[in-house]
Amino acid sequence: IEKSLEEVFEEKIANEIRIEPKDWMPEQYRKTLVRQISQHAHSEIVGMLPEGNWITRAPSLKRKAILLSKVQDEAGHGLYLYSAAETLGTSRDQMIADLHSGKAKYSSIFNYPTLSWADIGAIGWLVDGAAIMNQVPLIRTSYGPYARAMVRVCKEESFHQRQGFEIMMTLCNGAPAQKKMAQEAFNRWWWPTLMMFGPKDSESPNTEQSMRWKIKRFTNDELRQRFVDMMVPQAEFLGLTVPDKDLKWNEAKNGYDYGEVDWEEFWNVVKGNGPCNKDRIANRVKAHEEGAWVREAALAHAQKRAQREAD
Ligand code: ACO
Repeated sequence: IEKSLEEVFEEKIANEIRIEPKDWMPEQYRKTLVRQISQHAHSEIVGMLPEGNWITRAPSLKRKAILLSKVQDEAGHGLYLYSAAETLGTSRDQMIADLHSGKAKYSSIFNYPTLSWADIGAIGWLVDGAAIMNQVPLIRTSYGPYARAMVRVCKEESFHQRQGFEIMMTLCNGAPAQKKMAQEAFNRWWWPTLMMFGPKDSESPNTEQSMRWKIKRFTNDELRQRFVDMMVPQAEFLGLTVPDKDLKWNEAKNGYDYGEVDWEEFWNVVKGNGPCNKDRIANRVKAHEEGAWVREAALAHAQKRAQREAD
């Protein structure tokens, strides 16, 4: 008997066979992927802004060169991800329009300001650390183009994380004022980083279906717990104090218990009312408008070439 398209799809998912752009897929699977991949792409692009803020003020030529290339890597990640999302039939123009109109989300974390150089260390160490925790499993996500994009993204993210840790280590082994800067940056970024993993599983409308389709390989709470367990020893190594009075080793679960995230703050930032949301979007819209001539020139050039080849 012939199998239905849906059965073929379900069988591939069950057998860990990747779904590819031309394969049949449920409309909701396609929609969820466009949502997640485009939000992921937007996060990479908006994520250039908080760090870009420090390129002109990096403390040495070496630090500046590293930061510049790191921010360029994020641009590259955004581009692979937009390309992966485009294979699902949504145009990049549409995705970018949704970001600029406030319809599409991007990670809450990039709506916080970078107040000192130590924030650049904290972002690399914590934010890129959380990104790796969340994205390494996505190398096994069920949609082929997304999974393949993640391989290179994760390699680059691990370099980013190490450079962040190295900045923190330098500050923590420096003068008391530098150590204090590092602790203050840690205090600012710890809780917003925990929010990157998304709402608690019990409050996460998408997790269950995304786990079933193997788009997500772990739930938000599972990844958050792993992240806490990975970071606490690193903070101890740096001589920093985790800003959580409820943090406590739990022998029975072989992991840390930690305090409750401020979910009101999380949703407030997600809804557009964080400290920098308006700035970030205004900045992107301005860059897009000012870049119009580049897009027009590239299009004119492509048309001329196509014309020449046709002649
Ligand atoms: N910031 C902003 N929005 C968020 C965040 C966050 N930290 N966490 C969850 N949300 C949004 C979801 O996008 C979803 O919104 P929507 O349904 O309107 O699209 C809503 O809150 C409910 O959350 P979930 O049901 O848990 O959503 P989902 O299953 O998509 O899980 C997660 C969220 C974990 C972020 C998932 O989408 C994911 O793994 N994405 C890929 C990784 C990624 O985007 N990373 C970006 C930051 S890392 C970096 O760029 C360096």
